[in-house]
Amino acid sequence: MTMQSQSMSRRALIKASAALAAALPFLKSVQPAQAATSKVLGLASTHPVGKTRLYASVSPAVFVTRTAVNTWVAFDNVCTHAGANLVLQGKQAYCRSHGAAFDLKTGKPTNNVTRTPLKSYSISIRKGKIYISM
Ligand code: FES
Repeated sequence: MTMQSQSMSRRALIKASAALAAALPFLKSVQPAQAATSKVLGLASTHPVGKTRLYASVSPAVFVTRTAVNTWVAFDNVCTHAGANLVLQGKQAYCRSHGAAFDLKTGKPTNNVTRTPLKSYSISIRKGKIYISM
């Protein structure tokens, strides 16, 4: 190896190190996508059409509404105003902290306390069991 080629490779190494150092903050901000895990909530046959239930076997607990025979929606019970837990009140989720209320078919707020809808989850039915992807 000549002195010139050694110098060139050292220069290339310095350039590569500088490029890596410049990219590091960006690379740190890139998080691997979290794979959703599927959890069983219960038996679909025990959850009637039109009914909303709070399932506390997962964290956060989720409101699941069976809107039709094969249609399900799920929302977590964390208020989007300031993070308090919600309670089921009729067909809505209600927050006792400041009075926010949410439609449990859409997750949308039904008053002006917050404009942010509840976080939703997907539901699937397999072999008669209700699965939620979280
Ligand atoms: S935390 Fe729910 S309304 Fe404020």
